[in-house]
Amino acid sequence: MNYIPEKNAFNQPVFGNEMQRQFAASYPEEPQLLDHNMTANALLTLDALARLGSTLPKASVEYNPGDLPVGIDPEDVPENGLSIADTILNIESSASWAVLKNIEQVPEYEALLLSLLAEIQPILESKTGKMLQPQGFIFVSSPGAMTPYHFDPEHNILLQLRGEKTMTVFPAGDGIYAPATAHEAYHTGGPRNLVWREDFAGQGQAFHLTPGKAIFVPVMAPHFVKNGPEPSISLSITWRSDWSFAEADAHAFNHMLRGWGMTPTMPGRFPKHNKGKALSWRILRKLSLVK
Ligand SMILES: [Fe+2]
Repeated sequence: MNYIPEKNAFNQPVFGNEMQRQFAASYPEEPQLLDHNMTANALLTLDALARLGSTLPKASVEYNPGDLPVGIDPEDVPENGLSIADTILNIESSASWAVLKNIEQVPEYEALLLSLLAEIQPILESKTGKMLQPQGFIFVSSPGAMTPYHFDPEHNILLQLRGEKTMTVFPAGDGIYAPATAHEAYHTGGPRNLVWREDFAGQGQAFHLTPGKAIFVPVMAPHFVKNGPEPSISLSITWRSDWSFAEADAHAFNHMLRGWGMTPTMPGRFPKHNKGKALSWRILRKLSLVK
């Protein structure tokens, strides 16, 4: 199904020519600050998001106190004691951080996601092939909220819609910031939060996001996010590619090799394709020899 690209109040595309030029130059490996023209949207008010949070299945909603340390272990994250709807409606004072996952489960939000991705689909497909698994996430966070240090498996553009935040991004594929063993653990069912070291401070690239700005975040690039002094709403539009799935499967294959006492070479980043290890892992999985 083809979607008509989203238009703003001035009937312009959300991503203009300059954004498309910058995105084309940076995708898929370099983080990049981008412009967007998305203005007020009835689907993205706090009332609408509180309704969306109540509509989505429980597994698609995650929220917790927003004043966590940058390096917290996921198992140590406490609850904030509120419902998701109350957390969002009172985000100014609830000192919380909430994410609504896979918003494409609700048709209006799926249409919004696909229409935004349609604007950049030709650019990304010219680099990493067919756009796979479009997924959308909405982050609602209180003043000063912190998203701890972690990585994500998707190609991601995060659009800032309300409030401001600073995202600090570290190089993808650099074993200093996310060791091979962390990638291997993640791709075989482990956590996405990473071990923070104080000596990383000042080494990442800090991107200041305000309404009208977006950031492209490469697959598995470690990052953490610190909210500004106002409540924040951000929309993340993500996709996968054959390249990203191959990198993930190559890490999983390495996990097995490491378990056998070997020290495998870390999978290469784009444009290396990691086809041999990825194929080996897929064959083993097909034969049910691994999960
Ligand atoms: Fe993230």
